[in-house]
Amino acid sequence: MKSIFLIGFMGSGKSTIGASLAQELQINWTDTDEKMVKDLNKKISDIFNVEGEATFRIYETNTLKNIPIENHVISTGGGIIGKQENVRWMREYGIVIYLHTSFEEIYNRLKNDTSRPLWNKAIDEKQSLYEFRLPLYKNAGHFQINTDGKTISDIVTEILLVIKS
Ligand code: S3P
Repeated sequence: MKSIFLIGFMGSGKSTIGASLAQELQINWTDTDEKMVKDLNKKISDIFNVEGEATFRIYETNTLKNIPIENHVISTGGGIIGKQENVRWMREYGIVIYLHTSFEEIYNRLKNDTSRPLWNKAIDEKQSLYEFRLPLYKNAGHFQINTDGKTISDIVTEILLVIKS
């Protein structure tokens, strides 16, 4: 089967859901951020601070293109949809699932998170980034799953239904 790419804003559950979905499908799972950290032996925050976001995005695209496009679940970083090149790649070679979560729910989940460089900002900047990206996620996904108020298992079940449809 084609690989499944999970996209969505930071805190939408891409990693947790990806791991669980892969287990359910008995296929491998890769998280683009985790792979990048491992391959480059650098922390995400260090890449942002030392090399800048533009370099991070180059690493991210390279990482994306080095993950198998068959029989794989891929959890992506929240900004992967910022580059058309990435979106084209995912849509052409895989099934793209957008995990939609409201800003309020993301805000609650990530209230105490200081590890993400683009979340570590004033609330109006967080919200602007969220709103700016919403249409990008919607256009990039083949399918949208709303995650607010649902359990991991509910969401995985919904994904299994849409990919089999
Ligand atoms: C980013 C999201 C992060 C990580 C990096 C940039 C973004 O991944 O790739 O901090 O631009 O939204 P998560 O979506 O897994 O938090």
